[in-house]
Amino acid sequence: MDSLILAIETSCDETACAVVEDGKIVRSNAVFSQIELHKEYGGVVPEVASRNHALTLPHMIDSALAEASVSFFELSAVAVTNAPGLVGALLTGVSYAKALAYSINKPLIAVNHIAGHICANYLTHPTLTPPFLCLVVSGGHTHIVEVVDYLKFKLLGQTRDDAAGEAFDKIARVLGLGYPGGPLLEQLARQGKPIYPYPVSFKGEDHLDFSFSGLKTSVINHLRKLERGEGFSKADVAASFQENVVSTLLLNVERAVLNTGFHKIALAGGVSANGLLQERFVALAKKLGVQAYVPHVRYTTDNAAMIGAAAHHQFVVGDFAGLDTNALPRQSIF
Ligand code: KG4
Ligand code: ZN
Repeated sequence: MDSLILAIETSCDETACAVVEDGKIVRSNAVFSQIELHKEYGGVVPEVASRNHALTLPHMIDSALAEASVSFFELSAVAVTNAPGLVGALLTGVSYAKALAYSINKPLIAVNHIAGHICANYLTHPTLTPPFLCLVVSGGHTHIVEVVDYLKFKLLGQTRDDAAGEAFDKIARVLGLGYPGGPLLEQLARQGKPIYPYPVSFKGEDHLDFSFSGLKTSVINHLRKLERGEGFSKADVAASFQENVVSTLLLNVERAVLNTGFHKIALAGGVSANGLLQERFVALAKKLGVQAYVPHVRYTTDNAAMIGAAAHHQFVVGDFAGLDTNALPRQSIF
């Protein structure tokens, strides 16, 4: 065994701890979702998230270690997400990880959340190695990334406005579905048909960027119009919106594969839990004759195992963090 890492993730509304061996083997993966606490507000309340991370984290660490049958002293390092995310929420994890690493005399590893999402693929597909292309779709990010090496990333395309997950959450809200929007919208879309042809941004242009704010406005205006009439189905609106987002994302993935000639494509981030996206992604890979990698659904949305996966590669090269490490709301991996 090269590494046994305790990883902590508190960047948004999941309090998560995991023990990961060699960046691939998940010995435990404890996730406490705060959804119930934020539901009544229709979204994440940063202050509530931070306070509850602080309350829950000690128990989550205990249960992650117990489930993995590992003691503090057997650990190689303590890893923590320090960026990007809600700064107060990140700070709870960072403070805890610093104190813990210091007290048990183990190295501290500061992990970027987006690098973590990408590395989630190694947990489900231990034989996957860079280079490959990765579509990162989360609540705050929509990127097409060239994974040059485990810790080296190149940005090929990104959203110029809203992230895909943000658009899912917004449309779910106007459809009256509540929070979290993505999974609820997917559920509703299953009962509808994608009969409305909403506009696809940048169609026919040869860059790899995205834009979802025009789609959002189109869907909202269309919904208002439908609501003035009679006999329409919200499920059809949800299905049409989802169809649009998925085909927009995959249009650029296809172009990225054709431009670069990569033979491996991977998905990452919360939106990659979406069944239609996964299905179409695999079908696209088949059509292009490339290999598709989709992380297991438990590693798509926020979790700490993915942080442990990324941290392993930092551990191998001795990329350790000092006790002056801070939580950062923004940080690029490029
Ligand atoms: O990666 P993630 O858990 O947190 C961030 O790093 O942002 O992603 C959360 C996003 C939210 O916008 C959520 O609505 C979306 O992922 N999401 C989904 C699905 N599950 C989560 N979007 C579409 N379909 C889903 N099944
Ligand atoms: Zn995330």
